[in-house]
Amino acid sequence: IIHPLLLCGGSGTRLWPLSRKSYPKQFAKLTGEDSLFQASAERLSGDGFAAPLVITASDFRFIVIEQLAAKEISASATLIEPEGRNTAPAILASALVLEAETPGALMLVAPSDHVIPDAAQFRAAVAAAAPTAAEGQLVTFGIRPDRAETGYGWLELSQSPEDDFAPVAQPLKSFVEKPDAEKAEGLLSGGQHLWNAGIFLFATDTLIAAFEKHAPEMLASARQAVDAAEADLSFTRLDPEAWAEMEDISIDYAVMEKAENLSVVPFSGAWSDLGGWDAVWLESGPDSDGVVTSGPATSIECENTLLRAEDDAQQLVGIGLQDVIAVAMPDAVLVAHKDRAQDVKKAVVALKQKG
Ligand code: GDD
Ligand code: MG
Repeated sequence: IIHPLLLCGGSGTRLWPLSRKSYPKQFAKLTGEDSLFQASAERLSGDGFAAPLVITASDFRFIVIEQLAAKEISASATLIEPEGRNTAPAILASALVLEAETPGALMLVAPSDHVIPDAAQFRAAVAAAAPTAAEGQLVTFGIRPDRAETGYGWLELSQSPEDDFAPVAQPLKSFVEKPDAEKAEGLLSGGQHLWNAGIFLFATDTLIAAFEKHAPEMLASARQAVDAAEADLSFTRLDPEAWAEMEDISIDYAVMEKAENLSVVPFSGAWSDLGGWDAVWLESGPDSDGVVTSGPATSIECENTLLRAEDDAQQLVGIGLQDVIAVAMPDAVLVAHKDRAQDVKKAVVALKQKG
């Protein structure tokens, strides 16, 4: 049985102004009826899966409960982080909680900002990874790359994947998190790398041992944060003092780039991290001119452009635009070049500085 860990503490600043501090992208309905968080929870429920563990920020705790209840899912525990310190602390604390309950449990780390339309195929890849995880490997899931993406981790294979990209585990040679543009070009053309899907399967004791080896201070603080946690309604609040000691770092940098016991299972199904507006544009199905409009938005002879207005925003009209992202909310409007989608997080920093 596999225990999903739903990570949903990120603030998703690259999707400003839709994604806000108080209501980040994973809870918004971006491309479908359900939020990305609900879709992730549902994908990992049913046969073979235990009730999910959730780790989030205090501000989002009731959104989490409400959105899960709407899908008739209840979490085995909802951990509250005193503050966001990226994924390494969140995953480690969750693994400690699960390990105390079920030693050696298989935990599947599931980000809540992904689109994976074929849930059955994804579950088959997870099932294929389980025996390898049970043997003490940290298992990643590899996506066939189609561009030199700098926003992802890259996985170096030791052999080529099977012709049909079958979900068969193989050892990984190395893990490179978010290479620069030049390096990413090299990894793409070399043909020996897959993208890291950001989804991990491991036994909790394997992960704890990896932190012991590569980030021992963090392990000590995480144990304290869990030991001194306080119950609040159905939530478990991790201890703020111990949490403040933890480094703000992602699991990719803290452990995956350093670990030697890494494996990968290729995943050939459609997968997308809705990490920026360019990805939302692509996933929303652009028309033959490459245009996506949504809400009270109108395109007149635009190309490769996203015009998105929320229902309660003003009319948005684009004329003769190329490669533009325009997102209108009632209180904020973003207009950006499509190639600069990853820089939207700078808007949030700039606005914060202005106060
Ligand atoms: N609870 C909690 N606390 N969750 C967090 C925190 C935190 O402090 N920070 C991020 N998350 C959640 C996000 O909400 C998201 O669901 C997930 O963890 C991954 O964080 P991202 O910030 O979206 O990471 P990324 O997309 O830049 O990079 C990761 O994913 C890529 C694929 O999508 C890496 O694993 C890359 O290697 C990978 O390619
Ligand atoms: Mg992401």
